[in-house]
Formats: sequence, C-alpha cells, structure tokens
Amino acid sequence: MALVKLSELLAQPDDTYAIGAFNVSDMEMAWGAIQAAEELRAPMILQIAEGRLRYSPLDLLGPVMVAAAKKCKMPVAVHLDHGNTMETIKLALDCGFTSVMFDGSRYPLEENICRTKEVVKLAKSYGADVEAEIGSIGGAEGDMAEADIAVTDVAEAKRLAEEAGVDALAVAIGTAHGNYKKKPHLRIDRLKEIHAALMTPLVLHGGTGLTEEDFKNCLRNGIQKINIATASYDASAREVKQAVAEKGNELKYFDVSDAIVRGTCANVERHMKIFGMEGKARL
Ligand code: 13P
Repeated sequence: MALVKLSELLAQPDDTYAIGAFNVSDMEMAWGAIQAAEELRAPMILQIAEGRLRYSPLDLLGPVMVAAAKKCKMPVAVHLDHGNTMETIKLALDCGFTSVMFDGSRYPLEENICRTKEVVKLAKSYGADVEAEIGSIGGAEGDMAEADIAVTDVAEAKRLAEEAGVDALAVAIGTAHGNYKKKPHLRIDRLKEIHAALMTPLVLHGGTGLTEEDFKNCLRNGIQKINIATASYDASAREVKQAVAEKGNELKYFDVSDAIVRGTCANVERHMKIFGMEGKARL
C-alpha cells in the first residue's frame, strides 16, 4: 500500500487498540513483519534503534526498510528508534524514514526540550514526525548504556510535549528494555495522569515480556504505540536453533533466512493480535 507517517497511524487508535512498532535488524526480519501485517490486514511501524546499528548500518538497512514499507500492501511507517545523535537522525531522514525518535531522557528537562526542538525543526523540514522521551525507561536498547527506571513526571511530560511540539511521547511507567529479570510493576496510575494531562499520543517501550493483561491495561489508558524488539530477536533465534537441530549438517544458509522470517512473522502476528490490530488497516 504505502509508506505512511507515524502521525497518520497514531491518529487512528481509540482505546481499544494500539499500533505495534516492531524493531528489525535485517531484511529477513523486515520481511517477516510485513508478512504478518498483510496476513492480519494490520497497519504497522517498522523501526530500528541507533544502539543496533553496529550490526545493521543505517545507510544499508534504512533503504531496505523503506522499500519494505512501500512493498507492503498495508500502511507502514518507518521509524528511527532511540536516536541519540543528530548525525543518525539526519541519516534516517535522508533514507526516507517517516519519523524519528530523539531520546533526550538522559538530559535535564531544559536540555531535553531544547535538543528535542532542534530535532523537530529538522524532521519537519523533511515532513517527518518526532517521538521524544521523558523519564527513564529501564534496561538498554542494544549498545546503549543500561538505565534505571525513573517514572515520568506529569508536569515534565506536559512541558516537553507542548514546548517541543512532538507527535508522540515515550513515557516511563515501570517497563524496561530486554527480558525482565523480575515481574515489572506497571504504574497505570501515572499513565492515567499523564494521559489526562496531555493530548500527545503516548508510547510504551520495553514491550517484551509484558502480559496480555498488561498491554490491554496500557492501551485502554492512553498508550497508542507499543514497541517490541527482544521478543522478535528471541523468536527468530529460537527458529534458527530449531532448524539447526532438525537439519544438522544438512543445514543450508537459506534455512537460516527462512527461520528468521518465520520467527519474526509469528512474533509480530502474536503481538498484533494482542494489541487489537487485526483488520485495522485503512486502505
Ligand atoms: P523490548 O526489547 O523490551 O521489546 O523493548 C523494545 C523497545 O522499547 C524498543 O525501543
């Protein structure tokens, strides 16, 4: 169908579904995600985080992601996840990404606002959208430093969203990137307060390992974009291990490719169903 903007997808959800944003690291993962979207007639966000670019240089994978979105029969936005540097953000925009995240959460509020505004200015010159972050989501996305959880403050969220004029805001409500070492305590109370105070669509990071009930609780209370990364990597790795176990010495390179596509597709489909995305593509 088409490469679409993040804001276009986030304008759609009510409190019965959220848009899944699926991290990919190669063509196989992108292809698996597209197959899931087409199978379920669901819109989708394809994304890659700056912390993973060591494995997948953006100038190589970025054009593949954009081409994949254009090839998909469903609406797909292509997004840079956790952009930290202007250089990477500009490269994503040059590749044709329809949105970028600037993660200024490690800076004091004023500096986060100021840097996010610069990103908004640049992105708007490309006609692209921006996601910002306030508070601190736990864990680490790829090569980035491990962060402790710092639950988002409502007044700070409002200031960043309104002063920087972002299209989406990632909030810290107790989730963390990667597999959980202990059961997360989700601050749905805080999510409700943020949602009541802001018009900006809210984003949940650290989706891997949350329960169906957790996701539903979040999307009912203002979350409109949900990020899933580790679960797709793990599902693909599991399929590869199974192919190795089944084929042994007969394993061919393309068995590995197929396993990655299959693993990502199954994981994306599973999450799309939980997020209520099935049949939600507006064509
Ligand atoms: P998980 O790896 O925990 O799914 O987190 C994904 C994410 O939030 C990407 O920014």
